[in-house]
Amino acid sequence: MRSLLVLLLLAVANAKIFERCEWARTLKANGMDGYYGISLADWVCLTRWESNYNTMAKNTNNDGSTDFGIFQINSYWWCNDYLINSHNGCNMDCSAFLSDNISAAITCAKRVVRDPQGISAWYGWQYNCEGRDLSSYVSGCGV
Ligand SMILES: *[C@@H]1O[C@H](CO)[C@@H](O)[C@H](O)[C@H]1NC(C)=O
Repeated sequence: MRSLLVLLLLAVANAKIFERCEWARTLKANGMDGYYGISLADWVCLTRWESNYNTMAKNTNNDGSTDFGIFQINSYWWCNDYLINSHNGCNMDCSAFLSDNISAAITCAKRVVRDPQGISAWYGWQYNCEGRDLSSYVSGCGV
C-alpha cells in the first residue's frame, strides 16, 4: 500500500501539462524558434493539437504504433517502445518522451523536422496550423 502511494506520487510528479506561454518560452529556450525555418508559433500550434501541451499524452494508432508525449512522436519511425519493430530514428526509448524533462522530446522533434517532409510529418500541424494566422499561439507570452 505504501509502495503504491509512492508510485502514484512519482507518476504525478513526472507528469506535466504546460501552460501555453510557459511552453512557448521553454521551446524558445531550447532553440526551437526558427529551427529549420519553423516558427515558434508553429511549434506551439503543433503541440496544442497533438497533445494539448501534455507531456504524458500517449495514443495508439491503427497500425499498432504509438505516439508519445507533448510532440506525439511515433514509435514506428522514431523511438523504441519495445512493442513493435521500430526504425528508431532518434535512437531513444519512447518512454523518455513522457517526462516533465522535455530535453529528449525536443532533441527528437528536431531530428524529425530535419527529414525531407519536415513539419508536415505532424497531421496535427497540417490540419490545424498550416497556412493559418498563428499569432494567437504566442500572443502575450513575451517571446
Ligand atoms: C533531462 O534529461 C537529459 C537527458 O535526456 C539530461 O541530460 C538532463 O540532465 C536532464 N535534466 C534534468 C534537470 O534532470
